[in-house]
Amino acid sequence: EIMKDVSGLNHLEKQLEKVLGISRVVIVPGDSDVQPWVKNEMGRACVSEMEERIKNDSIIAVTGGTTVAAVAEMMHPLKHLQANLLFVSARGGLGEQVENQSNTICAKMAEKVEGSYRMLHVPDQLSEESYSSLIEEPSIREVLSLIQSAAIIIHGIGDAKTMAKRRRSSEELLKKIDEENAVAEAFGYYFDQNGKIVHKVKTIGIRLENLYDNKTPIAVAGGRSKAKAIEAYFKEGPQSILVTDEGAAEEILNHN
Ligand code: BG6
Repeated sequence: EIMKDVSGLNHLEKQLEKVLGISRVVIVPGDSDVQPWVKNEMGRACVSEMEERIKNDSIIAVTGGTTVAAVAEMMHPLKHLQANLLFVSARGGLGEQVENQSNTICAKMAEKVEGSYRMLHVPDQLSEESYSSLIEEPSIREVLSLIQSAAIIIHGIGDAKTMAKRRRSSEELLKKIDEENAVAEAFGYYFDQNGKIVHKVKTIGIRLENLYDNKTPIAVAGGRSKAKAIEAYFKEGPQSILVTDEGAAEEILNHN
């Protein structure tokens, strides 16, 4: 029975790699929309992908969200414990609850592997004015340069509307998201179903172009409700590893 399940998922993984145009997809059984523990299984799978790829002195940048928080939850002492890993927060607050903020998550990951961490102390949704002054701060520039030298980036993908509401975005942005038919969100960028960027949150942290720069992005996102978002993100998205669940995978494949 178990063997059959596993080979069934392997088949889904291959199909999804083709449909999304990426070279590695890992699917865990279940649907995290209805079975909350499935998020932890994605977390566990993400930790193994990471473990396979880290080197000594690797820098790992992480975003926020409940799924990446589950990665931190499942993090365990790695076989590279002596590797001196540095976890760095890839975005500022971005309006998340403390336990789901990238700062909290990167500190927790570092603690579990006895690595170190650097936080990014900037609020989300900056005005032009505070943006231009914060970006000149030496401590912030340093974190930004660490993000740029990260080897691995672990990030979530969200449904556009869900994320905009969760961040208590302005009426104006909610309207824009509707009008431009945004369906996906990742690290402050909103995308339509063709993967075109329709909005960027004005904040400090990782930029989409950083993901093309000799890095291994690992996207962790699942649940049937995120199928559209995942598909849209990868339309134009960078080569990444995707860790997802059966719920999202089946829904994407049903439409392709
Ligand atoms: C946020 C990230 O913290 O988490 C977003 O900034 C991402 O880019 C979101 O879309 C995903 O959240 P969750 O809870 O669905 O994993």
